[in-house]
Amino acid sequence: MATAAAKDITRRIGELRDQIRYHEHRYYVLDNPELSDADFDCLMQELNKLEAEHPELITPDSPTQRVGGKPREGFVKVPHSTPMLSLDNAYNEQELRDWERRVHELSGRKTVDYVCELKLDGLSMALRYAPDPHDGGSSRLAQALTRGDGSIGEEVTANVKTIRSVPLFIPAATLKKAGLAAEFEVRGEVIMPTKSFERMNEERERQGLAKFANPRNAGAGAVRVLDPNITAQRRLDFYAYFLLTDGRAFLPRQSEALEALQAAGFKVNPNWRPAQNGEEVWKFINSWEPKRDTLPYEIDGVVVKVDETRLQRELGYTGKAPRWAIAYKYAARSGITKIEDIRVQVGRTGKLTPVAWLQPVAIGGTTVTRATLHNADEIERLGVKIGDWVEVERGGDVIPKVTRVLDDQQHPRGDRQFHMPERCPECGGHVVRVEGEADHRCVNANCPAKLRETILHFASRGVMNIEGMGDALVNQLVERGLVKSVADIYQITKQDLLGLERMGDKSAQNVLDEIANSRKLPLERVIYGLGIRFVGERTAEFLAQHFGSLDAMMQASVEELQEVNEVGPRVGQSIYEFFQEPKNRELVKRLRESGLTFTGKKREKGTKLAGKTFVLTGSLANHSRDEAKKMIEDAGGKVTSSVSKKTDYVVAGVEPGSKLDKARDLGVNVIGEDEMLRLVRG
Ligand code: IVH
Repeated sequence: MATAAAKDITRRIGELRDQIRYHEHRYYVLDNPELSDADFDCLMQELNKLEAEHPELITPDSPTQRVGGKPREGFVKVPHSTPMLSLDNAYNEQELRDWERRVHELSGRKTVDYVCELKLDGLSMALRYAPDPHDGGSSRLAQALTRGDGSIGEEVTANVKTIRSVPLFIPAATLKKAGLAAEFEVRGEVIMPTKSFERMNEERERQGLAKFANPRNAGAGAVRVLDPNITAQRRLDFYAYFLLTDGRAFLPRQSEALEALQAAGFKVNPNWRPAQNGEEVWKFINSWEPKRDTLPYEIDGVVVKVDETRLQRELGYTGKAPRWAIAYKYAARSGITKIEDIRVQVGRTGKLTPVAWLQPVAIGGTTVTRATLHNADEIERLGVKIGDWVEVERGGDVIPKVTRVLDDQQHPRGDRQFHMPERCPECGGHVVRVEGEADHRCVNANCPAKLRETILHFASRGVMNIEGMGDALVNQLVERGLVKSVADIYQITKQDLLGLERMGDKSAQNVLDEIANSRKLPLERVIYGLGIRFVGERTAEFLAQHFGSLDAMMQASVEELQEVNEVGPRVGQSIYEFFQEPKNRELVKRLRESGLTFTGKKREKGTKLAGKTFVLTGSLANHSRDEAKKMIEDAGGKVTSSVSKKTDYVVAGVEPGSKLDKARDLGVNVIGEDEMLRLVRG
């Protein structure tokens, strides 16, 4: 009887793992989920529960084991099966053609097949798969190594396991379909998608932490942290591009290797193409350069590979790179230039941003004349002075920034120190720096620069989407006093517009139509458009869903505001203060009179946990803190940040903090992630 029951449990665990793997693949690799998040969580919860009851059945490749590893002391160094070489670069068509010519000469071939792949800008990684000890025909992730010095890498398996698109286990049947044995190595690139990067930086800004410079640095940092729970929160991705057995490529072609990797469940970048000659390679390269900013991750070029493995072997390697591949690098996104001046710009919130005025420099196809220096702390960190030679970097569509000061014979140091002004350069108002904050701000509520930026934000694409209301128009509207607040936008007449420069009847009518259309946009856009400090697009959406109307949101206390997802004390205070200001209340009143959308669909909450208060401490294995908070709140519960006698449950994850001690002292119920999920689902 006991054995029959044990068998059932083992079978059920097996089933759940198969199902979860299948759905993880649909979601994270194919980007095409079949299940809702809640249904997926249910499977995960059941598996978690069974494994908690039968810890002897936990295997390292179970989907539950992605997170939860303990922080390490350091990384172990492991030699690579075959060196992880880098690639030679080509920076222009000539260099690319020279490489092709060499390939032809060395191989004696008249025609050579190539494969063109995007060159993802991340961190290269080797993943070793080995036969599963319980099921030799299947394969499990055994080791993940960074490139290191090319010969010896660092073992970062626990961190890489948190990347959901990396398969932890590949069943025998899948391997068979892909034509792979259970032992092989995959090489590829770990990247941080632009969205994850932006989200992480937003979150860091909310917490008052320094932001990361670019997704590559943020991703590389996330792989090399000692605590896998931190890697998990950074939402990385992995794209496979190289398949090895016994240290060599074994399929006859690179194109077949890419297909095999995809069939085995790896994420392979879909934008690779075969090319039959140099002309086709060049076309591929040119077609992607203008499109690179539309990708959800950064690329810095194209990798061109000889398709046939036999030919690759014949061509072999120079000391440090294969002769059978080349990296075509798009124009650098950084350049060296001189700072001619540092001037201050005033933003929507009154923030003063020091901007470097540069000697014009061509970077990645555009001429750059300005770069941001962010704030006074950044100027100090860089040690930058007026007259310095600096490196300037330009990412996707972000504003160029100064990343480094040069100091050598050709690039002598500048000597003019910059100081933040005590008066606003736009209005002469007082400038203050609040203690503990990096930014200086103009405190004059009527500062014209603030108004201009507020209007531009309100009209911009992601907000009220009023096309045609850009710099030129807004400058004139503000200068002529036609617009003194965003509410005035809805009072603009055709007569007003016709009096402005370069405004004919047709364009004036277009602007008016755009303004009229913006009235229909949903509540979250209006909230975002108000320009409340710390309220970005996502927060605006959470606020709209939570309150369902602008009026309810306006009446909320700081505490009530904090019940909203992602709203902490700083954000809550900022929203509250915004609506305490009579001028802002007047603004809202006028927007209402103009017929903007003031109500939305409130997300109905459950009542299972009504009146119950939770505190979260430590990292949970399967959910981020935000997700857990949202689940509790959706079930009607409340999440607060400190433990008191009124707290009903403390949810403890890995590495809980002092909140756990406090809970024990006060006799508050301490539960784990599973128990929390049980409560949430009732
Ligand atoms: S193939 C020996 N393919 O670029 C073959 N590399 O500059 C080595 N990279 O270290 C790599 N995308 O980190 C290859 N589709 C791709 C790539 C790629 C990005 C990176 C990789 C490599 C570096 C070389």
